[in-house]
Amino acid sequence: MRLGILTSGGDCQALNATMRALVLTLHKNIDDLEIIGFIDGYKGLMYENYKVMKVEDFKDILNMGGTILGSSRCPFKKMRVIENGFDKVEAMKRTYKKLELDCLAVLGGNGSLKSANMLYEEGLHVIALPKTIDNDTWGTDYTFGFQSAIDIATTYLEQIQTTARSHSRLFVVEIMGHKVGHICLHAGIAAGADAILLPEMPYDIDALSRAIQKKQKEGQRSFVIACAEGALSKDEAALSKKQYKRIVKAREGKSVAYEIADKLAKLVDMEVRVSCCGHVQRGGNPCAYDKVMATRFGVEGARLILNQQFGRLPVSKGTEVTSIPLTETAGQLKYVDPNGEYVQTARALGICFGDEMSES
Ligand code: F6P
Repeated sequence: MRLGILTSGGDCQALNATMRALVLTLHKNIDDLEIIGFIDGYKGLMYENYKVMKVEDFKDILNMGGTILGSSRCPFKKMRVIENGFDKVEAMKRTYKKLELDCLAVLGGNGSLKSANMLYEEGLHVIALPKTIDNDTWGTDYTFGFQSAIDIATTYLEQIQTTARSHSRLFVVEIMGHKVGHICLHAGIAAGADAILLPEMPYDIDALSRAIQKKQKEGQRSFVIACAEGALSKDEAALSKKQYKRIVKAREGKSVAYEIADKLAKLVDMEVRVSCCGHVQRGGNPCAYDKVMATRFGVEGARLILNQQFGRLPVSKGTEVTSIPLTETAGQLKYVDPNGEYVQTARALGICFGDEMSES
């Protein structure tokens, strides 16, 4: 049995842990397991850049962050675009056939899962594994990497809190998450942030500043706002996709936290600072929870391969790890529910979401 394996898209802490579980489980069940590791994600599959690997290569990587295979971004929307006469999809199919693979395991986030589904529909034996710190994959409660990122973002917010208190400052701390606010919401609750701004809950800068002023009057001297990188104002949310993209482009790489900080500096009588947590949220080793989840996903992925159930994705639902067809998840995002329990819990403590409801 010849297994191809690749890690695609932004990395995260538990990629290696997931590959380890997948490979060790297959090894326990298959005598003649051969492993081809593709370098830098789909690029390796396209350009036949791979290494023949041994089971031993996967044994001691449970606690190792990053990915031993390397990763890259190959956007799904460009997969079918022929560039300089190069047909990427045909090239990937060619490599798969040339290497006589029996199956391909893709560890990836949303775009990568769409590409995995496309390859499955093209006739390859593909299974995928749900990776992303953003936890925005539809159909699964959890994606590996999420908890490690929350832990890092939480520590970051807590460290900002101490300096904010010393200097009686207001900090806007930017947290990753792309178009969704799961990391920001969880880290904001875990660190006891004063406000949490999420893409799913457009903020009103006046409501936000009034909430801060009210607390100032009550004697609070410092504030930490957890701001998701995709946070947007009510006015921005009312724009078309095209108009909003233009606004983001006009920021010239300066992220949203700076814009919010500039607006707040004009409305509240405080020194305002920005701090961006950044890629450190994807760095370092996986936390224990991620190692457990990665192991569960990897074992389920191996079961799918052993049972020849291709075109599927292991997912966690409640306390179970099961699997769903890739077609169910491809192309959909899982957003924070603005009326869900997590948001209600934060509101119960008086954490502000930059809306009128936070003022009552
Ligand atoms: O999807 C993971 C993620 O870290 C997002 O939270 C973030 O928006 C993006 O990747 C950053 O991508 P890059 O590593 O390409 O800068």
